[in-house]
This record gives sequence, C-alpha cells and structure tokens, in this order.
Amino acid sequence: MQPLRQDKPKLLKVPRLLRQPAATGHGGNRAALAAATGRRPEEILDFSASINPLGPPACLRMVINRQLGELVHYPDPAGRELVQALAEKHGLAPDGIVPGNGASELLFALPRALDCLRAVVLCPAYIDYETAARRAGLPLDFFPLVPENDFRPEWQPLAAGLRAGDLVFLGHPNNPTGTLLDRRELLKLVSARPRTFFVVDESFIEFCEDPAAVSLLTADMPANLVVVRSMTKFYAIPGLRLGFAVAAPATAAALRNQLPPWSVNTLALGVGAAVLDDREYDGRSRAAVRALRESFAAALADFGHVQVFPSAANSLLLRIDHPDLDGRVLAHRLLVEAGIAIRVCDNYRGLDKKYFRVAVRTAAENNIFCKALAAIILPATGRRRRCGSPST
Ligand SMILES: Cc1ncc(COP(=O)(O)O)c(C=O)c1O
Repeated sequence: MQPLRQDKPKLLKVPRLLRQPAATGHGGNRAALAAATGRRPEEILDFSASINPLGPPACLRMVINRQLGELVHYPDPAGRELVQALAEKHGLAPDGIVPGNGASELLFALPRALDCLRAVVLCPAYIDYETAARRAGLPLDFFPLVPENDFRPEWQPLAAGLRAGDLVFLGHPNNPTGTLLDRRELLKLVSARPRTFFVVDESFIEFCEDPAAVSLLTADMPANLVVVRSMTKFYAIPGLRLGFAVAAPATAAALRNQLPPWSVNTLALGVGAAVLDDREYDGRSRAAVRALRESFAAALADFGHVQVFPSAANSLLLRIDHPDLDGRVLAHRLLVEAGIAIRVCDNYRGLDKKYFRVAVRTAAENNIFCKALAAIILPATGRRRRCGSPST
C-alpha cells in the first residue's frame, strides 16, 4: 500500500467553487460548498449569508400549516392582506407598496420599470445592483466608497457627478460594509436631483437600532425615491422568498407591470402578513443582534491582523493583513478544516481578497468561529489568544 502523502501545497490551492462563491456571486450557497468539500449541506456552518440568528418568529410553522390548504388556489396576485399589513405597520398608502419574490425580484425589475439612461452604483455594494442594471441594458458608472472614510459617501462629489436620467443604487445599511447612510444628507440629495431616481435598499435596516428613525420609508416620500426591503433576512426566511418596494403610485404601477403574475406565493404572503404583528420578536431580535455583533466584533478585533469595520447590520466586514493569509486562503481553510463558510469579498467592486464578511450568528456559533479562526491565525502569528469568546 502506498504511504499517505502529506499534501503540503493543498492549503493554497483554492478549488474553483471557492474562488467563485456561487454561480450568482452570492454567499449562502450551502449546497455548492457542501459538494466541494464532501460534507452534507447541514454540516456547513454558514457565516456567508447574513440571516437573523434567532431564526424565524414562532408563528411561522402555525401560519404555514394553516396556509397549506390554500395551496390548491392561486395566491392573491395583488397580495392584498400583506400590502394592508405593511401599510398599517409603516403608515403608508397601499397603492405605493409592491410585494416581490424577495427583494431580488424587485431590484431586477426596477431598472426595467424606471425610464433611466444610466445606472450609478456606490461601491462596494451588493453585486446585484450592477447585474440588474446591466441586464436592463443600462450603462453603468461607479462612485467609490473608501475604507479611510469607513465606506461613507462624500455627498458633494456624489451630487456633482449625477445627471438627469440617472438611476442611483444605495444600500442602507450597505452590504458588505454594514454602513448606514446619513438620512438628512440623502434626502437633501434626493430633493436636489428631482430628475434622478434613487433606489435605496433597506434590506438589513430592521437590524439597526431604531429602524423607523433612520429609514427613508415615510408616507410623504419624494416621487424620485424608491425604497426596497427584504423580509428574508430579518425574519430568517430566505428559502421562502419575500420582499417589498415602496414608491410613488405611478412608479409602483410601472414596477408591478414588470413582475410576472403570482410571483409571491401563498405561504410567503401569509407568513409576511403574520410576522409584521410580532413586535416582541422585532425588539428581541434587534437587542440580541446588537449585543452579539458587539461581542463578536470585539473578539475578532482581538486577534490582531484583522481590522473590523463598524457595522449597523447583522454582519461584519473584516480585512486581514497577514503575510501568509488572505480572505481566500482563510475561507478555504475554515471550510476544509471546520466546515465554516465565510463570504470572501473580492468580487465586490472596490474590495480585494483581503476583505471578507461574516454574519453575526448565535453566541455559541460565533464562539466556534473564533476558535476555528484562532487555530489558523494564531499559529501563523505566534500569538496566544487573550480571552475567551463572546458569551452573549
Ligand atoms: C443588500 C441586499 N439586498 C437584497 C438582497 C436580496 O434579498 P432577498 O433574499 O429578499 O431577495 C440581498 C441578499 O443578500 C442583499 O444582501
């Protein structure tokens, strides 16, 4: 029998699947990562998709069970019950609300629905803003957000670079940085550029401290502003798919025209309407995510060689500065050695392979992550870890 060979260069040989986080360039592709490592999908501890660590609200199973009998009928194409619940929760007019099969469906439909000449993306940003604009045939320009400014936009140069007919995409808070925009500055810009459309993606805003205070979702939104929200992250239902957009009635009608009928299924409509009532879950989730984010960020910063950027969301952007490790190598080793998936950020415009993003998960899971990271980083740096891990 041949002796087992020590495969030394293996750690630096990053398999193709890991080089491209998923066919779509997103995190959260457990099936692909499992296939690449010979694990079952449920054996992957997924820090690459940022989902509420508390899991879905308690009513989820009950609502789904109740709706099962309805599956023999088509869903309400207008999603009236959900629209009404959203209108009441956010104090909005129902005719400006458009439900979608996840925020993704709406983000892809918007560049087709709005009569624009060019898309402008503040980057780094969620990669589908660019993909959606390209698929709609819009030329693109990019406005850089830089780490020296914690990825916050410089409002004056941004305003100076905009033209009539532009469609500007902004994340609030932004993915992957977790940065919130200055609401006042943004509203000033929106009103100063009435012939530019602003799509503000608030998919992670429910995780922020006081979402109602920072959100742009109001009854008197300017006509050139569209707010998009995902419900899959905060309510931990990415497999169910649900989101909504809010716009002036004429824009909302144009957006509806771009969507196929019945794109939001009966189960998602029922769950969406039910979870909006659960204020206790909202408050508990926000408090937990805040405490977990703070303790996780502190534990990660303690490693040295890892810069942790400030975040208002349920994820952290990190930059590793180390002679032998970068985000790619780290992702590979964490996956192979510990079954942990992270989101390497080198396919975000403006970032490179030193950057990676991790979700804020439960205290126990964050602890597992820190231990796995310690096993890789500390031997490489010759350091010992000062303290334990987050206990929140
Ligand atoms: C910033 C941002 N917007 C929208 C989406 C899409 O969300 P959904 O699951 O509702 O389609 C994502 C998914 O990761 C995201 O990160």
